[in-house]
Amino acid sequence: MTSVKSRENLPWIEKYRPSSLDEVYGQQDVVDTVRRFVQEGKLPHLLFYGPPGTGKTSMIIALAKEIYGKNYKNMVLELNASDDRGIDVVRDQIKNFASTMQIFSKGFKLIILDEADAMTNVAQNALRRVIEKYTKNTRFCILANYAHKLNPALLSRCTRFRFQPLKEAAIHERVLQVITKENLLVSNEAQVALLKLSQGDMRKALNVLQSCSAAVKEGEEISKEMIYDCIGAPHPEDVETALDIILKEEYSNAYVAVDKIRKTKGLAIVDMITCFVELLKNYELTNTQLAHIAKGFSNIEYGISKGVTDKIATTAVIGVLKGAFAD
Ligand SMILES: Nc1ncnc2c1ncn2[C@@H]1O[C@H](COP(=O)(O)OP(=O)(O)OP(=O)(O)O)[C@@H](O)[C@H]1O
Ligand SMILES: [Mg+2]
Repeated sequence: MTSVKSRENLPWIEKYRPSSLDEVYGQQDVVDTVRRFVQEGKLPHLLFYGPPGTGKTSMIIALAKEIYGKNYKNMVLELNASDDRGIDVVRDQIKNFASTMQIFSKGFKLIILDEADAMTNVAQNALRRVIEKYTKNTRFCILANYAHKLNPALLSRCTRFRFQPLKEAAIHERVLQVITKENLLVSNEAQVALLKLSQGDMRKALNVLQSCSAAVKEGEEISKEMIYDCIGAPHPEDVETALDIILKEEYSNAYVAVDKIRKTKGLAIVDMITCFVELLKNYELTNTQLAHIAKGFSNIEYGISKGVTDKIATTAVIGVLKGAFAD
C-alpha cells in the first residue's frame, strides 16, 4: 500500500488515478459493457484505443483490480510496449507468464499490453500466434492511441472499444473533486477555460491545475489568465484584437500590428491559427469562405511544420483572412 505521505508527493495524475471503475469518468458505456463481460465470465481479448488522457490505462487497471483483488500481482502482467518493444518481449516475457499454470486460483490471467502501437510489426506478428496459443487461460488487453498502427490480424482477435475525448462535463466532475480535496480557489471563468483548453484530455486538465496551484499563494484564486499562461495558449482577447486589426487595417499596417502582438505576448503562430479558427466559429461564414480559410490555414500549418519562418507564416495568415473577407 502507498502510504498517505508518499501519495502527497505524487503528481496529481497519479494521486487521482481512478482506484475503481466507478472513478473512471465519462466512459460509462465501455465500463458497463466490460463489466457485463466479466460478470458473464465471457471476457474477450480487449483493445482500447483513442486519444491520450481518456482513461484507457486507468480503466484496465481498475478492472483488473476489481476482478483479481489481492491476487492482482499473480494474475496480471503489465507490459509497456514503448519501453521494451521488439520481438524479445513478446516471445519471452509474455510466453513465460502465459504458460505458467495457476496453482492457487482459477480463471483467466490478464496481460495488459500498453502503448502497443509502438511495437514493431514483427513483434505484433509474433503476438498474434501467442494470443491464439494461450487463449485457454489468458486474456490480452491491448492499449493504443491509433488502431491503424496495429496489425489487422491482431485487431481481428480483439473486441474493440474506442475511447472518445472526454466530455467537458466529465472532466469538470473530476476537476471539482480535486479542487475540493486540494482546497483550491478557482474562478468560474478559469474552470471554463481549463475545460476548453484540455480538449477532452483529463491528464492535461489535472497537470495544468496542479501547475497553477503551485503558482498561487495560499488563499489566492486561480484566474483565467493563469490557466492560459500555464498552457501557453494565446489569450482570446489578444487573438480577437489581432483578428480585428487584420479585418480593418490595410495590409502592411495589419502586419506590423499583428507581429507586435505576437512578439510582445510571445505567441506561437500555430497556436494563433487554432485560436482564429475557434473565434471564427462565432462569425456567420459562407461555405466558400470556410473552404478558403480551411485550405489556407492547413497549407500554412504544413509550411510551419516544414520550417517556414514566422514572418512568412504571419504574412500568409493575414493573406488568408483578408482573402476570405474580401468582397
Ligand atoms: N476517464 C477518466 N476518469 C478519471 N480520471 C481520468 C480519466 N482519464 C484519465 N484520467 C486521469 O488522467 C491520468 C491519465 O490517464 P490514463 O493513463 O488512463 O490515460 P490513457 O488513456 O491511458 O492515455 P495514453 O493514451 O496517453 O496512455 C489518470 O491517472 C487519471 O488521473
Ligand atoms: Mg495509457
